[in-house]
Amino acid sequence: MKLLILNGPNLNLLGKREPEIYGSTTFVEYFKELKEKYPTIELSYFQSNIEGEIIDKLHEVGFDYDGIILNAAAYTHTSVAIGDAVKAIETPVIEVHISNVYAREEFRHHSYISANASGIIIGCGLKGYELAIQSFL
Ligand code: DQA
Repeated sequence: MKLLILNGPNLNLLGKREPEIYGSTTFVEYFKELKEKYPTIELSYFQSNIEGEIIDKLHEVGFDYDGIILNAAAYTHTSVAIGDAVKAIETPVIEVHISNVYAREEFRHHSYISANASGIIIGCGLKGYELAIQSFL
């Protein structure tokens, strides 16, 4: 099984960025744990701060992989183009947010991705990525 974790802007700063919201673990550390825990899955990881690179990655894997776990971060709330890309591809996408966006500012309550996601996991911390993996198994 081939799965991609795709993280959007500022998530390269996990561990340093607002730890009271996002925790103090870096994604590289967490990804290493996931790889060790699920050795039979071909699990890959890509992060970009650039909208077009996220879209290109969705196009690249979206007709081939078995699943994409997407945290588009702030682009979730702004990007019609990422929403359209999720709709355009065949691979199912699970949308993940580390924090409970509904308990935060109102501009975080809208997602351009949710309507075309096969599932949504919100507010479970980094554990949300693992829950998404399990849902694909
Ligand atoms: C986030 C929530 C977004 O509103 C925010 O812009 C992020 C991270 C989350 O994982 O909780 O960067 O997607």
